Amino acid sequence: MKRIGIFTSGGDAPGMNACIRAATRYGIAKGVEMFGIKHGYKGMIDDAIIPMDRYSVSGIIGRGGTILGTDRCPEFTTAEGRKQALANLQKHGIEGLVACGGNGTFCGATIFFEEHGLPVIGTPGTIDNDLYGTDFTIGYDTAVNIAMEAVDRLRDTAESHGRTFFVEVMGRHAGFIALDVGTAVGAEYVAVPEVVTSFEDLCQYIEKVDQDRRHIFIISEGDDYGGAFKFAEDFKKRFDVEARVAILGHIQRGGSPTARDRILATRLGAAAVQALLDGKNCMMAGEINGEISLTPMRETWEKKSEIDRGLLELVEVIR
Ligand code: F6P
Repeated sequence: MKRIGIFTSGGDAPGMNACIRAATRYGIAKGVEMFGIKHGYKGMIDDAIIPMDRYSVSGIIGRGGTILGTDRCPEFTTAEGRKQALANLQKHGIEGLVACGGNGTFCGATIFFEEHGLPVIGTPGTIDNDLYGTDFTIGYDTAVNIAMEAVDRLRDTAESHGRTFFVEVMGRHAGFIALDVGTAVGAEYVAVPEVVTSFEDLCQYIEKVDQDRRHIFIISEGDDYGGAFKFAEDFKKRFDVEARVAILGHIQRGGSPTARDRILATRLGAAAVQALLDGKNCMMAGEINGEISLTPMRETWEKKSEIDRGLLELVEVIR
């Protein structure tokens, strides 16, 4: 394989740049010509494909976001869009792809491979940590640490004013961020999409322990109860006291990646290129128990990565 293209797609995640850097330099070290595809699948369709040398990725290891840009590209969900993408990749002589993204990216890559046979290896780049086939995704550790620091700050106000905070964290379909942040900040309650929320249970807990109502509750955005505002509204009605809401939103996706994310991204970026050179295709390079492992790409988004329910119970036991 002489020419490999790399792209980032879906929500940006801290560490994507470290992955681009590692894949590019590893490929070059192995005698491959490397290409960057801008804005994910959109760049394939629009022919925004650029040659990369070792200097194209200088000084980016500590930067958040992605220097290649990213997109959630509806055109790529059509057969027509994918045909156009293939034609542009062939024009540049690209024989293999490294795709850094989450489940939407890998769903698209699986279909593309099954349709056209162009080898692709994924690296898990999403703050959600919801991909099967890796213990952690690139960006997750940074997002959890950012949210933890934010909640620590909110706790100062909660303590000083005797106020309750409902803090909403990201994770569309998965409660990994909520659970780890909740554990790390000593939250009294964590609402996740994987478990049906009982507002009544929460109220009973509050009635049992509460004197000064300065609680921190962590709500995953995908939770079924209806989000942090709904919790706060119902809490006010029930207890006739004020509650505040903080939605951390995209703040969790930005900023410089932690050392763990940079190291993970570096290992996986290089592993993805090596996998292509070894003739592998349609797989994701992940890390399981500290070892690099390749998982069929379809499984990464079809199978479910489970939160640690024991940890969720522990949060409630020790609150
Ligand atoms: O998948 C990453 C993620 O940050 C989710 O946690 C969140 O629900 C979603 O992306 C937000 O997407 P967008 O940036 O397109 O609003």
